[in-house]
Amino acid sequence: MADLLPRPVSVSQTTITELMIPSYANFGGKIHGGILLSLMDKVAYACASKHAGTYCVTVSVDKVEFLQPVEVGELVSLLASVNYVGRTSLVVGIRVEAQNVKTGIVKHTNSSYFTMVAKGDDNKPVVVPPLVLENDEHIKRFLEAMRMKDIKEKVREEMDDAKSTVDVVHAATLLKDQRCIIQR
Ligand SMILES: CC(C)(COP(=O)(O)OP(=O)(O)OC[C@H]1O[C@@H](n2cnc3c(N)ncnc32)[C@H](O)[C@@H]1OP(=O)(O)O)[C@@H](O)C(=O)NCCC(=O)NCCS
Repeated sequence: MADLLPRPVSVSQTTITELMIPSYANFGGKIHGGILLSLMDKVAYACASKHAGTYCVTVSVDKVEFLQPVEVGELVSLLASVNYVGRTSLVVGIRVEAQNVKTGIVKHTNSSYFTMVAKGDDNKPVVVPPLVLENDEHIKRFLEAMRMKDIKEKVREEMDDAKSTVDVVHAATLLKDQRCIIQR
């Protein structure tokens, strides 16, 4: 079992930089979102497992919005940092940037949050070391993550409720202004 001595944020901070090659592109010539998601999952794993000292799994992914397209030939850097630790879970914040090497222009394409859980050899969740917050930015991120966790919990409950209370009896009225046609 890994030791539970507190670990500073800086110890597990991880950056991956990868060249965007033509086989990563979609038919429109831009990089597939799935390629970026896969890189984000890798860097989240590297960062979380460095902190936990164990194998980690991805449990949920928040705030994935690709606001700017990434082009073939750009260098994509993924900067990952543990923002929060619970008992067995960790939230890894990932900033994704794409750099055009010729112009030097760096685009911030997205910032996302991966919740990971540390696992033991028996595949059960294991307790992770506390996090040492080394500056105000680390403190701010930890507090933000706590707030986001609460909001997510409320949204999850509301979504479960919304699903269980949907009925199709009044569908014709409810769907009146929607762009769909009922043909049953
Ligand atoms: C997620 C998983 C570890 C939960 O296992 P469990 O036995 O139910 O464990 P617990 O209920 O004790 O939850 C463990 C931690 O996960 C967190 N967690 C569980 N579900 C969560 C969710 N939907 N979102 C965020 N965190 C979640 C819990 O809050 C808890 O965190 P904490 O210890 O810091 O408080 C388990 O369902 C699993 O292994 N899922 C598969 C993950 C995987 O394979 N991912 C790869 C993608 S295919």
